[in-house]
Amino acid sequence: MAYKDILSAPFVTEMRDTCANMYRLGWDERNGGNISYLLDEKQVGEYLDLDRVVREIPFMGVNASAFDAKALAGKIFIVTGTGKYFKNVHGDPENNLGIVRIKKDGKAAELLWGYKDGGRFTSEFPAHMMSHMARLNVDPENRVVMHSHPTHLLAMNYVHELDEKKLTHTLWEMCTECIVVFPDGVGVLPWMLCGTDDIGIATADKMKDFRVVVWALHGVYGAGKNMDECFGLIETVEKAAQIYMLTSHMKRINTITDEDMLKLVDLFKVKCRTDFLNLK
Ligand code: 13P
Ligand code: ZN
Repeated sequence: MAYKDILSAPFVTEMRDTCANMYRLGWDERNGGNISYLLDEKQVGEYLDLDRVVREIPFMGVNASAFDAKALAGKIFIVTGTGKYFKNVHGDPENNLGIVRIKKDGKAAELLWGYKDGGRFTSEFPAHMMSHMARLNVDPENRVVMHSHPTHLLAMNYVHELDEKKLTHTLWEMCTECIVVFPDGVGVLPWMLCGTDDIGIATADKMKDFRVVVWALHGVYGAGKNMDECFGLIETVEKAAQIYMLTSHMKRINTITDEDMLKLVDLFKVKCRTDFLNLK
């Protein structure tokens, strides 16, 4: 059977464009950030021979990992490589990206394409896979998990309390549509060692309730149905953080009230974390 050119696959294009976009926004310096995108097996089969495994990649690697991804066995993801620069993904996708299938035993993945220079998936693979498992339980349509270091959100981490209710509430106040875009609010993890199973378990636990999880003094995780939705989510949180950083040192004389927020929730028919509001 003749396979189509993998570089023409829409999911490869999306990864290339998104990484370039995130790099251009300054969110992903050097090798900062990583993306995993759950693909449709039938669609991948149009581009790759699914019986041809290039090599196996155990989860153990950059950091020893004992996590079990059995729940994702057989699922295929395109994932950014560890140590790879978002800046370079667009020009050299075959070295900087990989397409992997989770093995039956849930302890390793089969490389179907990419990581050409012998590389492997992001060191945050446990956090990504555990987050996929958590989100798929809540929303079977969830396909994308994205980690990034957005500048203003990171800056805000140093000057704003990292309490989930207080942080969410401040972000909701910063742009009218914030409460509509992330009505479930923003989860927060304390500073933890990245690239470990522990941070993966903690992230996935937060992902049961939130689609955005802040890693204190490090960055953010987002999850969504598709690349646009996931990117848009982080973009909106980052925009709110930017407004906060532009205004927090000045006297605030106007604000969006909680009553206004409720009107938005009502109009857009979303369910928000009302316990994150200060209703009288
Ligand atoms: P990787 O290069 O392993 O993807 O790590 C980047 C990062 O942002 C770690 O949190
Ligand atoms: Zn990071």
